[in-house]
Amino acid sequence: MLIRPRRNRKNEAIRMMVEETKLGTENLIYPIFLEDGKGIKTEIKSLPNNFRWSLDMLIPEIETCMNLGLRNFVLFPAILEELKDKHATHSYAKENYYLDVIHQLKSRFPEIVLMSDVAMDPYSSDGHDGLVENGEIINDKTLPILANMAIAQAQAGIDILGPSDMMDGRIGFLRNALDDKGFTNVSIMSYTAKYASAFYGPFRDALGSAPKSGNKKTYQMNPANKKEALLEAQLDFEEGADMMMVKPALCYLDVIHMLKEKFPIPITAYNVSGECAMVYAASQNGWLNYEATMSEMLLSIRRAGADGILSYFAKDFAQMVKR
Ligand code: PBG
Repeated sequence: MLIRPRRNRKNEAIRMMVEETKLGTENLIYPIFLEDGKGIKTEIKSLPNNFRWSLDMLIPEIETCMNLGLRNFVLFPAILEELKDKHATHSYAKENYYLDVIHQLKSRFPEIVLMSDVAMDPYSSDGHDGLVENGEIINDKTLPILANMAIAQAQAGIDILGPSDMMDGRIGFLRNALDDKGFTNVSIMSYTAKYASAFYGPFRDALGSAPKSGNKKTYQMNPANKKEALLEAQLDFEEGADMMMVKPALCYLDVIHMLKEKFPIPITAYNVSGECAMVYAASQNGWLNYEATMSEMLLSIRRAGADGILSYFAKDFAQMVKR
């Protein structure tokens, strides 16, 4: 035998030397659920170890995360049912606590990167990402609402906007609206290939944001489609997206890989709530080793080509690395 691949695996130092994929805390983006009020830290039942935080409780948590080397955060607001309406007007209202949280966190921690969610669902009485009329999601009437939301978040000091709505033309629409207002430095991380997935359940539990009727299949992508992701990516790229996301991550590693190969901008992937919930559940039952499985999962997403990974595992991974 002339070639014995095992020689390059014979000890830890050699294995580390030839390791192809590096994953560090700098690649991770930690999703945080928010709730208005004080003294709130409520665990999400279907996503153990993840919480809805009020700002006062979140501040020391952000400090803990920063000490672990995490600097990127994405914020998702739970909104009171009575503040929701058809047009998601509360999303850009001065009284929206989400905007205040963005402002307070950025003033206190200027060195962190804050990302937002731009979509109507947390604020919509229909629970959809776009405007609903007669049971239909109206694309072009949704765009100005998203632009209002984006501008309000930019004014609050957000670093990176995350349009997760999957309306056609929204990246260009948002880019123009931002630039018109002078927000040329605010970035857009587009949820480019967002699939109509069954893995979003715990997230919708956390925010109470599930659609009140129907499903999201007329705007989120069919899990069977891969080429269509190229079309979405081409459009987002041309419309000025700074980064493009694939979501979920685990069942869509092929899509991550494809976009990474074809486009010259950073690719991110969202290791969504249901993917993490599976690992939490199995490890709580003693069926899987938590740290080993979650780090293998994150590594595989990185290996597929993701530069940044949004994951509920971010803090635990950072803690593990520190040890
Ligand atoms: C909605 C949004 C969703 C997630 C992020 N933004 C859910 C949905 O489309 O219903 C899911 C993230 C997760 O499951 O962790 N705009």
